[in-house]
Amino acid sequence: MEYDFLIERSEKPVYKGNLKEFNASFNDRNQVCGDQVEIFLKIEDGIIKDAKFDGKGCLISMASSDLLLEQVIGKSIDEVLKLDDEFIRKLVKVPLGVNRIKCATLPLKVLKRAVIDYVSKNKN
Ligand code: FES
Repeated sequence: MEYDFLIERSEKPVYKGNLKEFNASFNDRNQVCGDQVEIFLKIEDGIIKDAKFDGKGCLISMASSDLLLEQVIGKSIDEVLKLDDEFIRKLVKVPLGVNRIKCATLPLKVLKRAVIDYVSKNKN
């Protein structure tokens, strides 16, 4: 089934938890359902060195969070800021309608806000 790998990722996430050391984070919710995602990042020299997420939400939002963090560790913050909804669609691999796309992109929105906050706090 096309949803099997999403079920697996939402039930056994690899990147869920807290980072002992992080220097960027953001927390937001889907305004429609109230589901919530928080992301913690360790950024060094403009690179995402480590990442974890926490939160409560549907299968799509939790699986998308886990899959997204797997992809962004090792990427530069500039690369992360260029990621778009299309990237998430490819990652999640199942058809996403108007509501489900909001579930799937919630972690990307949170991730980008964490990076934007980090950049604004660390600019000279
Ligand atoms: Fe709430 Fe998916 S139903 S994020």
